[in-house]
Amino acid sequence: MDLELAGKSALVMAASSGLGRATATQLAAEGAEVAISSRSQENLEEAKNHIVEETNANESAIHPIVCDLSDSESIRPAVERSIDELDGLDVLVTNHGGTTPKYFADATVEEFDDHYNSILKSTIIVVKAALPALKESGGSMTHLVAATAREPPTGLIFTSTIRSGLFGLSKSLATEYAADNIRSNCVCPRSIMTDRIESKTEQVAQRDDVPFESVLEDRKVELPIGRLGTPEEFARTVTYVASPAAGFLTGTVIPVDGGWSKSTQ
Ligand SMILES: NC(=O)c1ccc[n+]([C@@H]2O[C@H](COP(=O)([O-])OP(=O)(O)OC[C@H]3O[C@@H](n4cnc5c(N)ncnc54)[C@H](OP(=O)(O)O)[C@@H]3O)[C@@H](O)[C@H]2O)c1
Repeated sequence: MDLELAGKSALVMAASSGLGRATATQLAAEGAEVAISSRSQENLEEAKNHIVEETNANESAIHPIVCDLSDSESIRPAVERSIDELDGLDVLVTNHGGTTPKYFADATVEEFDDHYNSILKSTIIVVKAALPALKESGGSMTHLVAATAREPPTGLIFTSTIRSGLFGLSKSLATEYAADNIRSNCVCPRSIMTDRIESKTEQVAQRDDVPFESVLEDRKVELPIGRLGTPEEFARTVTYVASPAAGFLTGTVIPVDGGWSKSTQ
């Protein structure tokens, strides 16, 4: 299947590692020119080298753009610079650093503010800055969220409250900008083996004084498919959803979670 991404321009937020980098890599492999952003120039240069090595993309087709999503002022200039360097925008993928696991009882109002700023407000600013270019191209927005935002477990209050706002944002954007030919969807990961999941697994292993492998087994048990996902598997779904090949897909939420979600919707 031709995803019709060759020669398109893509911006992936929070893309120096993990799901963001895997998505940027897949988009580049499909022939897109890609801007990758994160807080660290050094991490972005490493990610760029990785993408070039993996895909044989031309170095000039990968654009590292520093942007700290918790610093509201820095976001619009970074998005505008990306669009400038890419000379337009067909594909926007929003992504974030994670949330802090907390119960409501332990979470302060200031922490809610911080999560609102770095997750929901940052996405609003990114989208506002990207919309003029997306209107011109009739492009797509794909928002990386979390399966736990759809089906909140206890102890993840910032994901349950702040991150779940991305569903409403995406759905509203899908409806409001359909006339401009812009699509907006959410893709929700669970247990995709990235550095983040590895370090979370290590932390639990140390806290409970049990082997890393046994914590990993506990994760696998909650997944009907019986194993963790790979960043590449996740990225392939995002790349399809973001591509013109998925032209009739909009306003939806797609879990990529090995069957973890219980809901049929
Ligand atoms: N992996 C999973 O199974 C899974 C499941 C559910 C939800 N998620 C969510 O998906 C997102 C990505 O997860 P991941 O596993 O790919 O994590 P990861 O490997 O730790 O990657 C996180 C990325 O976010 C960037 N980042 C962190 N804080 C940032 C900020 N303030 N501004 C801009 N960029 C920032 C990091 O780059 P720098 O350090 O260079 O800034 C890095 O590129 C996270 O929000 C995570 O909670 C992941």
